[in-house]
Amino acid sequence: MKSFITLLILCSVVQIKSSAIKREAKYPRFQRSCYRNMPTGELDDCLKFNFQQSLPTYRSAGIPGIINGSIDPHTWPRFYHYFGGALIQGSLTISDTKMWGWSALRVLQVRTNVKNPEKMLVDMDFKVPKLDMFGQFKLEARLGAAKFYGEGPFWLNLTGVSGTWKVSGSRERGAPYMEIKSFKGRPSIETFKLKAKGAALGNERLSNLVVATINRGWRIFHEIANPAIEREWGNYCTENLNRVFKSVPYDELFPLDRDTSEVSSYNN
Ligand SMILES: *[C@@H]1O[C@H](CO)[C@@H](O)[C@H](O)[C@H]1NC(C)=O
Ligand SMILES: *[C@@H]1O[C@H](CO)[C@@H](O)[C@H](O)[C@H]1NC(C)=O
Repeated sequence: MKSFITLLILCSVVQIKSSAIKREAKYPRFQRSCYRNMPTGELDDCLKFNFQQSLPTYRSAGIPGIINGSIDPHTWPRFYHYFGGALIQGSLTISDTKMWGWSALRVLQVRTNVKNPEKMLVDMDFKVPKLDMFGQFKLEARLGAAKFYGEGPFWLNLTGVSGTWKVSGSRERGAPYMEIKSFKGRPSIETFKLKAKGAALGNERLSNLVVATINRGWRIFHEIANPAIEREWGNYCTENLNRVFKSVPYDELFPLDRDTSEVSSYNN
């Protein structure tokens, strides 16, 4: 009898555990159901509504299956860039960058092209009024015979960050998963202000000069840095999105129409 009760308790514990796991969302659930077969304009508005509506929910809880923890502030773990031009060579590593402001993102427009079941293209126009960042950087550079070395904390304040993110995916014929292949976008910025005391270690005047030069010519530096930022941020976002896209069948994530969606939720 005792062992039977033990077994019962064990079973109910197991059941509680498994139902708790089941309730933990594997991917974002949205307020409206959007289907790939919807007329394009309607589908685009449906997705725009969902993305915009769910931002406040994600603010501190993260995006289910995609990002654990807060999106505002959100920590971008690592950015690395090697620059090997004729004039200047070196590397820049930025780690643990905390970014404040993403939850105020406005989704201006969404454009989809999902009629081909083997391709997925989603463009999103967005605007973030203000992005504040704080992180650690390490810079090693060689300019002719001169060597630079800098490291330490930096602060970066941006306003009016806007642009278009272009997400593309592809899947093999008959395969269940849509794999995200690229995440692209080179946002523009309205204002830029950088602070970094250690830009040239051991030389405060040079440090101030470097930071002042970057702040004065930030549009040029932004142009130069944009391809590297696009690559690193794009890889980071592609990886995060694929946590969901490569583990949940496309037809469940983004159903073709109402009927297939009912079948797949029934199968759950
Ligand atoms: C989030 O946490 C879960 C379990 O706690 C883990 O399996 C998953 O890899 C984490 N995801 C990210 C994006 O770190
Ligand atoms: C700039 O960003 C930092 C965070 O890195 C923040 O503490 C500071 O208040 C911001 N400054 C302005 C003027 O918004």
